[in-house]
Amino acid sequence: MEMNRAGNCQWWKNAVIYEIYPRSFADSNHDGIGDLQGIISKLDYLENLGIDAIWLCPVCKSPQDDNGYDISDYQDIDPMFGTLKDMEELIQEAEKRHIKIIMDLVLNHSSDEHYWFQEARKSRDNPYHDYYVWRDGAEGIPPNDMRAAFGGSAWEWVPEVKQYYFHQFSVKQPDLNWENPRLRQEIYHMINWWISKGVGGFRLDVIDQIAKEPDKKITNNGPRLHEFIRELSRETFRKADLVTVGEAWGATIDLAKLYSNPDGSELSMVFQFEHICLDQIEGKEKWDLAPLPFLKLKEVFGRWQRELYEKGWNSLFWNNHDLPRIVSRWGNDGRYRVESAKMLAILLHGMQGTPYIYQGEELGMTNVQYGIEEYRDIETLNLYKERLEAGYTKEDIMHSIYAKSRDNARTPMQWNDRENAGFTEGKPWLRVNPNYREINAAKQTEDEDSVFRCYQELIRLRKKYPVFIEGRFQMLLETDENIFAYTRTDARTQLIVICNFYDKTVSCQAGCFDHSARLLIGNYKDTGQTMLLRPYEARMYLKER
Ligand code: NOJ
Repeated sequence: MEMNRAGNCQWWKNAVIYEIYPRSFADSNHDGIGDLQGIISKLDYLENLGIDAIWLCPVCKSPQDDNGYDISDYQDIDPMFGTLKDMEELIQEAEKRHIKIIMDLVLNHSSDEHYWFQEARKSRDNPYHDYYVWRDGAEGIPPNDMRAAFGGSAWEWVPEVKQYYFHQFSVKQPDLNWENPRLRQEIYHMINWWISKGVGGFRLDVIDQIAKEPDKKITNNGPRLHEFIRELSRETFRKADLVTVGEAWGATIDLAKLYSNPDGSELSMVFQFEHICLDQIEGKEKWDLAPLPFLKLKEVFGRWQRELYEKGWNSLFWNNHDLPRIVSRWGNDGRYRVESAKMLAILLHGMQGTPYIYQGEELGMTNVQYGIEEYRDIETLNLYKERLEAGYTKEDIMHSIYAKSRDNARTPMQWNDRENAGFTEGKPWLRVNPNYREINAAKQTEDEDSVFRCYQELIRLRKKYPVFIEGRFQMLLETDENIFAYTRTDARTQLIVICNFYDKTVSCQAGCFDHSARLLIGNYKDTGQTMLLRPYEARMYLKER
């Protein structure tokens, strides 16, 4: 296996990572909320799928204002999910199946119920005061007009200290002050403690926002950001053979080269969102929908593939717990659900980078359309209130929510066709998607034509052919408005991926295709040699050079 210059082996280049949103995965104690024992009970399913690591969304102690992204104790498990013992058991049980556990580190902010903040708000000379970002001001007159991501001002007044604290997310998520070296040391200590427990890596929540400078209205990519990350890496991850992935909405290609520098000085890779943000009106919010510009999508993927080649490393993803279901977004969740879910998988998994599968994606799970009273997500609920007050119609708001609400991805995992999809025997915290009788894991693991089997096969192929890891990417048919096609080439082999992105039959003029190419995987049974691509048809070929 390849080593980086820090002497660590880059096992994660060959890995496929599966994201679990614990509260929606599997409930073992019938309280309607998924938990660690639930995850343990499903490890065989994940082993069967073939994944190498689990990115576990936050399970630490939290008042759950933002479903665990508001941590009140970084070194304990929230009782809702289980105990530290359960966590240790999960790490061990996963290891038996060669699966690593990647923890979600929320380091930009803590919960306001964290001991540090409880102390910090008591007085200006409290030793913890400076762990957070405070500014003077008069009650009712915040330091500036910055807004929080979940709505409202980014400043909250604390009468005890007669100051405002800064929060980029909810009021219950005060921002941590990375300028304070004592705070940074506490964080490293905590991370090293998790490393000693045997975790395989970390996903770093909104890591590009830690070096904020609110006086200059800088939220992400602050001047000290990479200095902080290098110190963090040096003090923690670099000592172990870990994978690290930073969430960085502000990442450009040049920044991604820094983050994923092959010398190992920062992180293994970042989640960047350029391909994800394409279906919103430029300069507006994610709720302001625009049709997907397909040629732009190709251009964006092509550019990232090309530019990071041998200079950094990509993460590959369509979904996560903050994004709508890809099959409902750029696929077709009606007549061609199965075909389009497989097409999107084949398209992504052929590219260079580490693929991430978000729970249920491997089943082709879809978005939901509920009444507003059934939504639970703080961002969705705040948006609804704000836009109503701003004069939008209910229909307009719900239209955006159906397309983009984070709860689309958070409905419980669909295990089987029993009540509540086998997720819980209690009352689920969020309503199960009513299509679970048709779309569920039990059915798909048995069915050789299922979306699940397609993901399983893609993972198997990735392990078998080195061209998936190191092959150089080249886009084909750049200006074709229906087909996304590309090659990956190494010294011995060439991979050819051809995908029809739409629901009509199109003909493909890809010159690279010839009869020596062997079909590795496709999404129609009777794939012939013809270059007519049926709705959402995808084919992946391999050719010896
Ligand atoms: C990104 C996480 O993925 C999201 O779920 C969360 O609300 C914010 N960061 C704040 O922590």
